[in-house]
Amino acid sequence: MRLRKKHFAIPEMHENPYVFFEGQKYKGKWREVFGNDNPIYLEIGAGKGKFTIESAMINQDINYIMVDFETNALIYGTRQIIERELTNVRAMPINAEHILDYFEENEIDRIYINFCNPWPKVRHQKRRLTYPSLLDKYKIILKPNSQIYFKTDDLDLFQDSLDYFSLCGYSTLIADFDMEEDEYPQNIVTEYERKFRNLGEKIKFGVFEANVN
Ligand SMILES: C[S@@+](CC[C@H](N)C(=O)[O-])C[C@H]1O[C@@H](n2cnc3c(N)ncnc32)[C@H](O)[C@@H]1O
Repeated sequence: MRLRKKHFAIPEMHENPYVFFEGQKYKGKWREVFGNDNPIYLEIGAGKGKFTIESAMINQDINYIMVDFETNALIYGTRQIIERELTNVRAMPINAEHILDYFEENEIDRIYINFCNPWPKVRHQKRRLTYPSLLDKYKIILKPNSQIYFKTDDLDLFQDSLDYFSLCGYSTLIADFDMEEDEYPQNIVTEYERKFRNLGEKIKFGVFEANVN
């Protein structure tokens, strides 16, 4: 889905102290940014930020960073940080491909990837947020034995991603092809997930552990 251009998005985000346009400066220093040693969870491709915002409201002792290169979507999540007075959330409008410019080795405690674009055509698959070239980068910024949580509605993407994770040396802890809502009462439903659940689509859910190299 293409979002209509929001001319207010970038100027408004520049005024928001929780949004980092020059996040490279904080590589290796995110704990200082939050002012505590709480775990840092990163959501990649956060869209309008519903998942991170709701997670952060429930888990005040976890720090969250949400990233998405689409400022027309991310603007809504960044507004919520202020409106809900959340001190444990930061946001960066960045491309996941450059993630190593923003985080140091072992700086991140968990990554969430929710309903990333499935890119079904073979020539586009390298743009998937679970593509091996990205999984290798995530592994560097993740602490050893920490995990990536992945949800999607797309069966081909899920099946291919199981292969990608395994190829990149992650262990599969969960691979659920039908994530029923009542089996996961703690699940936080994302914007896209709500849409697909309402259409009766089965949600696929995986948890993958980045093993020590
Ligand atoms: C289909 S939306 C899902 C949004 C949200 N996670 C949800 O579940 O409702 C996928 C998001 O991933 C973002 N995205 C795709 N490729 C990206 C990349 N390379 N870097 C950062 N964000 C990316 C898109 O801009 C889009 O907002």
